[in-house]
Amino acid sequence: MADAIELVNVQKQYKVNNHLTHALKDVNLTIPKGQFIGILGENGSGKTTLARLFNGLILPTKGNVYVDGMDTFDKRFIKKIRSRVGMIFQNPENQIISSIVEEELAFGPQNLNLPIEEIDKRVDKALNIMGLTALRFHATNLLSGGQKQRLAIASILTMKPQYLILDEPTSMLDQSGRYELINYLKKLNKQHNITIVLITHNIKDILSADRLIVLKKGAVVLDSTPWKIFSSPENLEISGLNPPDMVKLVNGLNKRGYKLKDEILTTEQMVEFICRQLN
Ligand SMILES: Nc1ncnc2c1ncn2[C@@H]1O[C@H](COP(=O)(O)OP(=O)(O)OP(=O)(O)O)[C@@H](O)[C@H]1O
Ligand SMILES: [Mg+2]
Repeated sequence: MADAIELVNVQKQYKVNNHLTHALKDVNLTIPKGQFIGILGENGSGKTTLARLFNGLILPTKGNVYVDGMDTFDKRFIKKIRSRVGMIFQNPENQIISSIVEEELAFGPQNLNLPIEEIDKRVDKALNIMGLTALRFHATNLLSGGQKQRLAIASILTMKPQYLILDEPTSMLDQSGRYELINYLKKLNKQHNITIVLITHNIKDILSADRLIVLKKGAVVLDSTPWKIFSSPENLEISGLNPPDMVKLVNGLNKRGYKLKDEILTTEQMVEFICRQLN
């Protein structure tokens, strides 16, 4: 498919000291452009392995990964694939190389040998989108964890990516840093049409996602909407996930005979629902 990341019969095995780990078993998955996707799963279920396959950082043991039709096995495409599929990791410290914010952002476009005006344009735009304009001349080592993650994302934006894969980007941030980062990701998805694949252990991060994929022992066990996953006792059992508080509230009310039909996952949705009932 032209506008998607596609995994076809993908297996990934790691061999350590003659011992084989089946990190991914037989994964078939399509990530079409435009979606906001959450990936969940317990430790060791294969999430990071999946993320690294998406942009050719690692290659499948069996099967194929295609990015907009380009096979990650084909070395001719690897540069193009890497610029289309940006990756953000857990630790913001390890992703920043320059000492000044502006330099960090100019680094990628400079390597593409773009004209200076184009570099400036891309840097300005990335600063603006990620709310970093006021920090343009700041030292990168003095930024907060949340600002560092935003800078790491901004520097990927200068490469004009189509997909952004984030592997637990909020796990080292405090609650407000986490909330802020997620809001920026929503904005990138809705306003700038960048496909977001967000790996997280925190279900609050992905309650408004278009789609959730749950991994278990190297296999996709669920692929559905947040509501369908969190409101179904059977799916909760399969995924081993805890439902968000608002879903517990809806379930509790339904048990008492109130027939709530709305898909309520967040406090904001509950507030809206109650206001409608009161009016
Ligand atoms: N480079 C590697 N060499 C050997 N084994 C690996 C390697 N990377 C991952 N594994 C193994 O593959 C399996 C899947 O690991 P992976 O890191 O993809 O899981 P994960 O879902 O990201 O876990 P976590 O939630 O802890 O980050 C695990 O059993 C892990 O030990
Ligand atoms: Mg991981």
